[in-house]
Amino acid sequence: MTKKKSLLNGIGNQSMTEKYYDDWALNYDLTLKKWNYKAPKKAVKILSKIKKKLNFNLDLACGTGMFAEEIKKKYKNIIIDGCDISSQSLKIAKQKKLYRKLFKKSFEKKIQITSKYDLISMIGSMTYCKKPGVLFSLICSYLKKNGVFIFTHRIDLWEKQNFDKLIQEFTTYLKIEYRSRPLNYLPENIDFSNKVKIRIMVLKKV
Ligand SMILES: C[S@@+](CC[C@H](N)C(=O)[O-])C[C@H]1O[C@@H](n2cnc3c(N)ncnc32)[C@H](O)[C@@H]1O
Repeated sequence: MTKKKSLLNGIGNQSMTEKYYDDWALNYDLTLKKWNYKAPKKAVKILSKIKKKLNFNLDLACGTGMFAEEIKKKYKNIIIDGCDISSQSLKIAKQKKLYRKLFKKSFEKKIQITSKYDLISMIGSMTYCKKPGVLFSLICSYLKKNGVFIFTHRIDLWEKQNFDKLIQEFTTYLKIEYRSRPLNYLPENIDFSNKVKIRIMVLKKV
């Protein structure tokens, strides 16, 4: 199975995903740039219209730190913690010196945080979430009041997994602040091109 095919159709269980991203970590940033991956940049642009100031970010599935690179350009003093299952990706993220703490942990498991966050990000990674209800509950527990959760999700999977229903179920805790139209995801990747689109979503903790 090729890398591209796996990305489109799912990699498999968590240990397969971990290995896949460990093997890719060294070339990941370069490949994503070639595929014209703009989700981190677009996400920051959306946030900048919603929040003037952001102090503490938990970057779930942070990978090699592409979102941290973008958010630091806009919010210079933001303190960022990250989590990922791929130790090789975390090694690269650490080298960039953008994160305060890095947790090698699944986003579906509780992270021992010391204080709550006003931003939680999960960019390009919802595809790997097997239990969105568990993830959303954890996010509610990590967020401060009025804090925001920004994430991307593929439109095809959004519909298959009925994400509208999930968001509706959490409406007591998380209100929709922003919902993008379908956007290109990996336009220069032959399998994704303009066929597979994503939505960027911002939910606010009430
Ligand atoms: C497409 S990359 C996105 C990385 C980064 N957010 C970015 O925008 O470049 C997907 C990331 O999700 C991570 N991942 C997959 N399943 C995970 C899980 N259950 N918990 C934490 N991270 C996970 C992978 O290791 C990988 O780094």
